[in-house]
Amino acid sequence: EPTTVQLRNGAAMPRLGLGTWPLKGAGAERAVATALQLGYRSIDTAEAYGNEDGVGAGLRASGVAREDVFVTTKFDKHFHGVDLVREAFEQSAERLGVDYVDLMLIHWPNPSHDKYVEAFEGLLGLLRDGLVRAVGTSNFKPAHLERLREATGEAPDVNQIQLSPLLTRDPSRAYHSAHGIVTESWSPLGGSGTEVLHEQLVRSLAEKYGRTPAQVVLRWHLELGLVTVPKSGNEQRMRENLEVLGFSLEPDDVAALSALDKGEGAAVDSDAFGH
Ligand code: A2P
Repeated sequence: EPTTVQLRNGAAMPRLGLGTWPLKGAGAERAVATALQLGYRSIDTAEAYGNEDGVGAGLRASGVAREDVFVTTKFDKHFHGVDLVREAFEQSAERLGVDYVDLMLIHWPNPSHDKYVEAFEGLLGLLRDGLVRAVGTSNFKPAHLERLREATGEAPDVNQIQLSPLLTRDPSRAYHSAHGIVTESWSPLGGSGTEVLHEQLVRSLAEKYGRTPAQVVLRWHLELGLVTVPKSGNEQRMRENLEVLGFSLEPDDVAALSALDKGEGAAVDSDAFGH
């Protein structure tokens, strides 16, 4: 099975990467270096995580070549402006110690600030200039993506959204596939509560497949064609999460997991997402 998805501009994005929130400083450095040594080739960070310096240090400490790693970062609303985005890129690139970013995302639409179209235009400029290899959004709803399309004629390569068997985001996934947008799941294991790992169905499927609950859930993301970035700061769990590329779930089991969906009400919400 392919371990990467092809983005429209030709960049190959690993289907599984390491999430880094809320790791910081030396903790982020250790986690990233360990993950890369274990075989991870995609790392997800953000300006708002306050850990790009640690992530960059981990990248250098790992001994893995920069060009072999897919680096995603995200910028905040104070950089939502056509020219401001370049400043966001320069600051993130400096903290990370890289001269290009594989994928740069608008972290939140912040609809009450109402500058996400300008932010996207700025990102498209970075893409034209070769500073980023792909452009995307995070936490955008279909209405926000539709507005980008109307204003620019373009869609992001990727929209990264909170998604798990308890929150399957069917309307978003349908919109994304209709417009060639890759769906990337954040908090694929359900976040720090990891409630989803305690579901009876998940536990019984783990027994059936001889895998752990986290492996069953990550496998579900992959069966749906999603890209995902589970966070772990623990070497054993990082290893466990990476070892999901060699088995598959039966279609009925995928469907049963999807039926755990509790609907959009289960999503983290704030003004930053919009309504
Ligand atoms: P830890 O960093 O101690 O491993 P998500 O990516 O869905 O936000 O989930 C992250 C949470 O899930 C973290 O608390 C992380 O803790 C935990 N976690 C990550 N991998 C696993 C795993 N394989 N089994 C159980 N918990 C995990």
